[in-house]
Amino acid sequence: MGVHKKTRLSSGRCNVFGHLDGRFSLIEVMFVWISMSNILTVKTFAQGAQPLSTGFYETSCPSVKSIVADAVAARLRQDASAAAPLVRVFFHDCFVDGCDGSVLIKSTPGNTAERDSPPNQTIRELGLIDVIKNQLEAACPGVVSCADIVALAAKEAIRQNGGPDWEVEMGRRDGLRSTATEASSNLPSTFSNAASLIQTFSSKGLSVRDLVTLSGAHSIGNAHCTFAARRVYNFNGPNGIDPTLNSSYALKLRKMCPQPLLEHSRVPLDPLTPMVFDNKYYEDLLEMNGLFISDAALLTDAGTLAIVTEYARDQSAFFGNFVNSMLKMGRIGVLTGQQGEIRRHCSAFNS
Ligand code: HEM
Ligand SMILES: *[C@@H]1O[C@H](CO)[C@@H](O)[C@H](O)[C@H]1NC(C)=O
Ligand SMILES: *[C@@H]1O[C@H](CO)[C@@H](O)[C@H](O)[C@H]1NC(C)=O
Repeated sequence: MGVHKKTRLSSGRCNVFGHLDGRFSLIEVMFVWISMSNILTVKTFAQGAQPLSTGFYETSCPSVKSIVADAVAARLRQDASAAAPLVRVFFHDCFVDGCDGSVLIKSTPGNTAERDSPPNQTIRELGLIDVIKNQLEAACPGVVSCADIVALAAKEAIRQNGGPDWEVEMGRRDGLRSTATEASSNLPSTFSNAASLIQTFSSKGLSVRDLVTLSGAHSIGNAHCTFAARRVYNFNGPNGIDPTLNSSYALKLRKMCPQPLLEHSRVPLDPLTPMVFDNKYYEDLLEMNGLFISDAALLTDAGTLAIVTEYARDQSAFFGNFVNSMLKMGRIGVLTGQQGEIRRHCSAFNS
């Protein structure tokens, strides 16, 4: 028991203490102190739990921000639809075992990694993270973590598509495990109702406002027709259509996703402005044009509906809160200090 506890503490992942933001309070330090007999363990833990900072690579890799920005820009010139997946990768990384780059790990014969779990469905652009990592290894070898590259790339994808700009916090270390089962159990399903979404986000230390705000990432990007199909064909409702979906939009979705479904056919998450990061997603929701059941669910709770209505009216309120919620999400379960490692290749552990 003692050994088990020590391991968890020194890995800095002990979420029961609630220090999801990578810091800990005096009471938590005292609890650790009292509950641990081994002073060294306390010290290791304290060294590990350093807060993230925006200037983390200022001296060790001053070009990190421009290298990531330029690489994302180059990729978007080739394929503008590459922006959205970069944002989604950050979400999946942070929700599964903390923002530690574990989503990037490739499965090996002994381990089915996160990216091969069912909810990975369709995670794209992991190859771009590898490309950026190679450029950073050339500029500042062994310095920048893959977890920080994911965070920077997500911000660039948003900024370069009309969204807000902000200083990304850095100093994350890369994690030492990645399992498919953890991805399946931590990521929300598109079937979720409001209560379940609120619960999933709350389990990560995120509020109702964070839930509605971060869902606004669905302002860009696409989803496979399977998600539309389950709401517009054979749904247990009038004409086989989900009654919480706009019926005229449902008919358009049938045209965009004819049966039998083609494996690669996709539809926009924000039909009003699919390629621009803006507040139109919230207008879509109010017109019952949200694509997922989980998007539509944000109208069914008084608290989430009030925030949806606020953002549909006020893009600057959305942008301001989005930055704040991305910073919060970016602190979930991070490894810092001497914890974890700085991977040499983002898709494989060092050893
Ligand atoms: C609230 C619960 C959420 C659920 C159930 C959910 C689920 C999904 C699903 C199923 C897809 C489509 C995948 C595909 O078929 O290609 C998707 C796409 C996307 N999600 Fe979410 N998501 C949620 C929240 C978030 C959050 C918090 C973010 C980021 C902050 C995010 C960012 C994205 C983006 C940008 C895309 C488009 C990806 C692309 O174009 O390839 N999602 N999401
Ligand atoms: C996602 O997982 C499936 C198995 O569930 C796998 O076949 C597919 O290759 C994975 N996708 C990526 C991008 O790793
Ligand atoms: C359905 O969507 C259209 C436009 O996309 C909108 O004009 C209409 O008001 C929506 N219907 C409902 C019930 O919100």
